[in-house]
Amino acid sequence: MEHPLDQEPIDRIQQGLLAWFRQHARALPWRETRDPYAVLVSEVMLQQTQVDRVIPYYLEFLRRFPTVQALAVAPVADVIRIWSGLGYNRRAVNLQRAAQAVVERFGGDFPQDVAALRSLPGVGAYTAGAVAAFAFEQDVAFLDTNMRRVVTRLLFAPGSEPPSTPVSEPAIQEAARWLVPPGKGWEWNQALIEFGALQCTARAPACVFCPLQRDCAAYPSIQSTLAARRTRTRGESSEPFESSSRYFRGRIVETLRALPTGDSGLSLSSLGAAIRPDFSADDVPWLDNLVRGLERDGLAMIAEDAPPYDAGSSPPDPEIRVRLP
Ligand code: ADE
Repeated sequence: MEHPLDQEPIDRIQQGLLAWFRQHARALPWRETRDPYAVLVSEVMLQQTQVDRVIPYYLEFLRRFPTVQALAVAPVADVIRIWSGLGYNRRAVNLQRAAQAVVERFGGDFPQDVAALRSLPGVGAYTAGAVAAFAFEQDVAFLDTNMRRVVTRLLFAPGSEPPSTPVSEPAIQEAARWLVPPGKGWEWNQALIEFGALQCTARAPACVFCPLQRDCAAYPSIQSTLAARRTRTRGESSEPFESSSRYFRGRIVETLRALPTGDSGLSLSSLGAAIRPDFSADDVPWLDNLVRGLERDGLAMIAEDAPPYDAGSSPPDPEIRVRLP
């Protein structure tokens, strides 16, 4: 397939981000191993959970269940107990089921290809990609909310005025694949994660001293957003127009309207990244709420199988798809 992006800026982005990572990478225990079992444990724990909270659980879990076989035969109650305090306990049960599947279906050897990894219980596109890259050092692309934010900012300028091209999930996925430097899948994906966590954060991206400034599509619009936010915090008391629901309802409809007819729509996380440069996982309930309001008004449609959102219970799934009615 033809390369959709100019090679020169891509080279600079790749080199810039890898150099940044070598300088700033945190020493994290799961970066010291290529054992697919340990990598899977770390990635499941890191879903929706901060790195600092995960480290002691990761070390203790591997001490207690050092191999995929050990986890597979453990009493489920022990697995749930050791998870206590990490939250989202279903992850623990699924992790054990995945271990059992590796033992029963693959003789205890982790499969290496993404499709086979995805067939394991609780393992979705992100986790399968992470195991392929971080255990088997494959040049694969996979995106969580933070990585998606970095890629969309770099190449699609979300939230710019006037709006740039609408950011569809397949376009982001394709761009993410083009970005992986051949032979460097492990390092590149760790770098993307680290960059999203430390530098290109949702609410306070450190653009002033960013090595990718020159090639970042979102740099100009993020600068003006941050400048406007600074002005507001210095004095105005009224609700700023940009953060009002009305403004973002307009942005949502505008974004959905720009999709080709018959398109299956955008996930909540892609839609969020498209309408505001500082969108983060914490904003998913806010966006879900706006989208459900639009649906009541006949302006948007949510995938039929999406469960109703109940503010008191589990958070909405960021993969829920939204389109025009
Ligand atoms: N979050 C998910 N995967 C991670 C990793 N490998 N390192 C740091 N944070 C992560």
